Amino acid sequence: MSDLKESLLSLKEEFDSALSKVTDSEAAEQLRVAFLGKKGSLTQILRGMGQLSSEERPQVGKVANEVRTHMEDYLTSKITEIKDMEKSLRLRREVIDVTIPSKYEGAGSRHPLNMAINEICDIFLGLGYSIGEGPEVEYDKYNFELLRIPEGHPSRDTQDTFYITDSILLRTQTSGLQIRTMEKCKPPLKVICPGKVYRSDALDSTHSPVFHQIEGLVVDKGVTMGDLVGSLQLFAKKLFGEDTKIRLRPHHFPFTEPSVEVDLTCWSCGGKGCRVCKGEGWIEVLGAGMVHPEVLENCGIDSEEYSGFAFGIGVERTAMGRYGIDDIRLLYENDVRFLKQFK
Ligand code: DAH
Repeated sequence: MSDLKESLLSLKEEFDSALSKVTDSEAAEQLRVAFLGKKGSLTQILRGMGQLSSEERPQVGKVANEVRTHMEDYLTSKITEIKDMEKSLRLRREVIDVTIPSKYEGAGSRHPLNMAINEICDIFLGLGYSIGEGPEVEYDKYNFELLRIPEGHPSRDTQDTFYITDSILLRTQTSGLQIRTMEKCKPPLKVICPGKVYRSDALDSTHSPVFHQIEGLVVDKGVTMGDLVGSLQLFAKKLFGEDTKIRLRPHHFPFTEPSVEVDLTCWSCGGKGCRVCKGEGWIEVLGAGMVHPEVLENCGIDSEEYSGFAFGIGVERTAMGRYGIDDIRLLYENDVRFLKQFK
C-alpha cells in the first residue's frame, strides 16, 4: 500500500513542479493530458488499486482523490492566471491611440442615383404629386397577382424573380406600389414612388440584379391618355432640356390598357443618331399606360367613375444619360474616384 501512496505523492510533487514552470495555455493543456488524461500518469498508478486488500483500498482511494482534486484545482487556477496574463499582454499590444488625427477625406456628396431620383421627384412634386414608398420584400399579390399577372403568366418569365417563399419575393418592379397606394388612399390621387427593385440578372455594363425605378400613378375622374402624354412631355423637358421630345410606341403591360413604351430624343446627339442611342436618335426610358379597369376594381375603386394613368421610369438609364455614365457597374462599386466627380 505505501508503494502506491508514495507514487501518488511523488506524482503530485512532480506535477506541482512542472506546472509552476508553465507560462502558456498550450503547455498547461499538455500537462493536463499527461497527468490527468485517460492515458495519463494518475490513471496508470490507479491501475494498481486492483491489487490492494479491501482495507487498504479506501485509504489509498482517499489519497488518490485528494491528489486528483489538488491537481485539478491547481491547474484551474494556473489556467486562469495564464489567461489573465495573456489578455493583459494582448490589450497592451493592441492599444489604439485615439488622439492621433484621422486623414481628412473631405465632405462626401450625394450618390448620382440619389441625385437622379431627387431631380425626378422634384419635377413631379412641382406638379402636385406626393411621394410614396413600400417594402422591397413584397407579397406576390402586390408585385404580380393584383396587377393582372397571375401565376404562369409569360410576363413573369421576363422578370426573373428572387423568391423568399411561394408568396413572398423581392419586388421586381415598383408597380406593386400602385396597388398599395390605391388600397390605402382613395382618388383623386397623384403619387410618385421611387425604390429599389430586384431581378435575377447577371451583372454586365447595362444590367444589374438590383436597380431602381420610379413609379407614377394618377387616378381621378376623367383622366385621359392626353394627360399622360402631357405630363411625360413636361417631365422630359424639365429633366433633359426644352428641346427634348418624347415618342410613344404601343406595347403590352398586363396592368395598363392601352400600354406604351416611351422614348426620349437622345440626350447625347439630340436625335441625329450616335453611338449612345445606337444610331436611333431615341432612347427608351419608361413604360406607361392607362390603369387597367380591373386593377382599379382590385383596389375597390369604381372604374366607371374613375380612370388613371401610370408610368415606371428606369432610374439607372436616366442617371447614366443625365451624367454621361457608360457602365451601370460604376453606380454600385462606389469607388470614391468615381463618386467625387458628382460633387
Ligand atoms: N413595371 C414595368 C416594368 O418594370 C414598367 C411599367 C410599365 C410601369 C407600365 C408602369 C406602367 O406603371 O404603366 O417593366
